[in-house]
Amino acid sequence: MSNGRRLIVGGVGMIVLVLLAGVAFAGPLDAPGATKALACSACHGPGGQSPGETMPILAGMPAWYFKKAIADYASAKRPSPEMEPFAKQAVQLGVDDIAAFFASQKREPSRIKVDAAAVERGRARSAECVICHGADGKGDPAKGVPDLRGQPPGYLQNQMLLFKADRRSPGDDRLKALKAVMKTTPDDAFTDLAAYYSSLR
Ligand code: HEC
Ligand code: HEC
Repeated sequence: MSNGRRLIVGGVGMIVLVLLAGVAFAGPLDAPGATKALACSACHGPGGQSPGETMPILAGMPAWYFKKAIADYASAKRPSPEMEPFAKQAVQLGVDDIAAFFASQKREPSRIKVDAAAVERGRARSAECVICHGADGKGDPAKGVPDLRGQPPGYLQNQMLLFKADRRSPGDDRLKALKAVMKTTPDDAFTDLAAYYSSLR
């Protein structure tokens, strides 16, 4: 190949690359956090819209709570063998971008079906939760209380069991009151509470 042809072939290659880059960055991966969040979709679903029973939905999650969860996993304060490496990765890649990406995704409530009778039993039990999580389950950012609405029931139930056993953020003084409530709640009531909060919109 002559030098001139090599230049032309090289030039065409560059143009193709620039076009491909243009396509990649003009689409749904436009936000700086989108590509950084790709690894998360393996477990949390595309755009954080987890379709399963036990993986929390990240789509639409407010950045304040998202960043607290990532910091807690990364420091092993909230122990999770699954999340610790990905939390560390998120910190390294830039947690602000990733938090902004998930916060901007439209949240669809979990489609996992819950039993209507369990929802009603859970509603009655939720009187103890209202002081922090609010009558609508929306939580309160000023008090660090997350939104529980529409999360998969299996996820909510697991977290309550972890609080009860002091295995989520063990020894954290700020969660004492929450854990005291969980300790006096019988395990089978967690199924009802999870069904109730999962059903809220
Ligand atoms: C291997 C599967 C897996 C991958 C990949 C994964 N996660 Fe998770 N994630 C989990 C599990 C399991 C939990 C629940 C852990 C627990 O019990 O606290 C979780 C919980 C979370 C929570 C807490 C939600 C809440 O309501 O408190 C956040 C935030 C989160 N993940 C963000 C991410 C981000 C960001 C990534 C990508 C950088 C990611 N995850 C990748 C499995 C995964
Ligand atoms: C004293 C205030 C308080 C009370 C009462 C309380 N919570 Fe919470 N709850 C919190 C806080 C604060 C967090 C966030 C913990 C963290 O930052 O790790 C939380 C987190 C949770 C989570 C985990 C959410 C997630 O995305 O991981 C669940 C589930 C939950 N609460 C359910 C309940 C239920 C059900 C009740 C009633 C039986 C209840 N809580 C009572 C303050 C409270």
